[in-house]
Amino acid sequence: MEQSNIRNFCIIAHIDHGKSTLADRFLELTGTVEKRKMHEQYLDTMELEQERGITIKLQPVRMVWRPQDQNLNIKNQNYNLKLKNNPPTADTKILHFDFYTLNLIDTPGHVDFTYEVSRALAACEGAILLVDATQGIQAQTLANLHLAQAQKLTIIPVLNKIDMASAEVERVTEELKNILGFDPKDALQVSAKTGQGVPELLQAVIERVPAPSGVSTSPARALIFDSNYDKHRGVVAYVRVMDGSLANHDIIQLLGARAETHALEVGYFSPAYKKADKLNTGEVGYIVTDFRDVSRARVGDTVTNLPEKNLEKHPFNPLPGYREVKPMVYASFFPTDAGDYPRLRDSIGKLKLSDAALQYEPVTIAAIGTGFRCGFLGLLHLDIVYERLSREYDLDLVITSPTVEYRVLLKKNETLLIHAAADMPDLSAIESIAEPWVALEIFTPATYLGPVIDLVTKRRGVQKNVEYASQTRVLLTFEAPLANVIVDFYDKLKSVTSGYASLNYELLDFRISDVVKLDILVSGERIDAFSAMVHSSVAEREGRVVLTKLQEVIPRHQFAIALQAAIGGKVVARETIKAFRKDVTAGLYGGDDSRKRKVLEKQKKGKKRLKQFGSVSIPQEAFIEVFKR
Ligand code: GTP
Repeated sequence: MEQSNIRNFCIIAHIDHGKSTLADRFLELTGTVEKRKMHEQYLDTMELEQERGITIKLQPVRMVWRPQDQNLNIKNQNYNLKLKNNPPTADTKILHFDFYTLNLIDTPGHVDFTYEVSRALAACEGAILLVDATQGIQAQTLANLHLAQAQKLTIIPVLNKIDMASAEVERVTEELKNILGFDPKDALQVSAKTGQGVPELLQAVIERVPAPSGVSTSPARALIFDSNYDKHRGVVAYVRVMDGSLANHDIIQLLGARAETHALEVGYFSPAYKKADKLNTGEVGYIVTDFRDVSRARVGDTVTNLPEKNLEKHPFNPLPGYREVKPMVYASFFPTDAGDYPRLRDSIGKLKLSDAALQYEPVTIAAIGTGFRCGFLGLLHLDIVYERLSREYDLDLVITSPTVEYRVLLKKNETLLIHAAADMPDLSAIESIAEPWVALEIFTPATYLGPVIDLVTKRRGVQKNVEYASQTRVLLTFEAPLANVIVDFYDKLKSVTSGYASLNYELLDFRISDVVKLDILVSGERIDAFSAMVHSSVAEREGRVVLTKLQEVIPRHQFAIALQAAIGGKVVARETIKAFRKDVTAGLYGGDDSRKRKVLEKQKKGKKRLKQFGSVSIPQEAFIEVFKR
């Protein structure tokens, strides 16, 4: 396909504004997927994506399109006539205006997966900014638009769901103008459900999005925008060819990884892998490598087919690549059955092959055993990894409460990065503790302004700005500690705004804060697994919550058990589990002593299954309860 007939674009939107449904219409309209094979959210291939109705991984697809609309065909004919009157140059083809290769990359909408969006954007020249006309602009609409603008993409603003009675086309168009600065006449209106306006949208993509501008005669230069591990093929790199072309069996170099591999196969996404002879300038496709480990085909790396010796002679500029993604949230996974550890290790390794953002390292915590401390992009990411491990790998796991990264400055002027309270050094060695702060953007109907501000300030947030998107909706900006935004904040925000607010956050910096390590002591013994980092102003309350839970789940013993919450040895809350001796022999009338002894023996054995701390036994259930916040 001629370069001038290629359009690479993606759809960006807030969650649930209809990206996947619009992609379905594109696939149908272009005949990419046969009608009988079509089902909803076709590009969401993971079982979890289909079930939850969300997109987790980006998914590219190549479509071929010939405008079908009568008016568009007339336009084509006029264009072709014009070409006839002005003889085309050597490499212009008469079909220029008839067939187009459209490479669409479907992206996720949730804040945790913003990095997937930014990678998709780097492979495209244009983006459809889809806004649900019944909802208006939301937090991720804005966040994703900023990413696309930073990449200098051509943006096509589109209102979706215009078939719905509750669509407020006028108001949302006003928001597009006020908040995003778009000219209302540039905005298109579609219904991804009924297909209304969709052919016109594809035509707008062709007319407004520039064709790729690479140099076809140069040596190949391609950007890896994603990589995947395929059971049958091994490591597959998803690439956008910027210059030159890549062919089957080429020997290729990865400039960043300084690694050489074979292009065992090249091809494009139909959306299934479809083998091709080569990938040309401007095209989006895949390369099957002979790597065994997906981390070698690092996302953001540059691929070339220049031989290594030439690279030394003529230094070759790699493409800009991506910024490294950093986890925002940490938590540890432990198998409920210690014997499952090897299976957990293998499963997490396999999962990592298709989830480059997941980080993990082995960890051992007294009382729970050996597992993995993992870094996630957010709570949804954590939840998805947990679900995949449970389902796809059939593992029964305990998760510790999520925590953020703390930067601890020691008195000896060393800085430690702490990802679990149990790793916190002794209070006497600490100079200061800094915690991550985020910039928070919240869109809400103006009627909920008060409750939203109240909610954020109660969580130590600082209000920065209020901007009216339209007469009825506002954009609020805050700065707040990340730890107070990740756990249950979103649910609370939804409940104070009757479900209408949306939220986006971005890491700002680390700020010194009065956070402390809250220890939990059972019969005077500190249980590391229960320690947590909390702000000193809520330490007592948090401590009491844990103690109450423990009170419910630790069985009574023959003696009273003291439960304490403490900061650096100072007790801030206490509870007691009263003494109780279950008289298991009570039901035995008469009989000889040996029977009684047998029953007591059985009781003793039963206790062995509990975790023993000094003289206190704590059931596994207690750990699960405490981590459930
Ligand atoms: P994520 O992948 O989770 O980011 O969501 P998405 O943006 O891909 O949204 P999706 O396509 O899953 O659509 C969300 C819901 O809106 C689904 O129930 C769709 O059926 C519905 N929907 C999408 N477009 C339209 C439309 O034009 N009209 C109507 N009535 N419903 C629509």
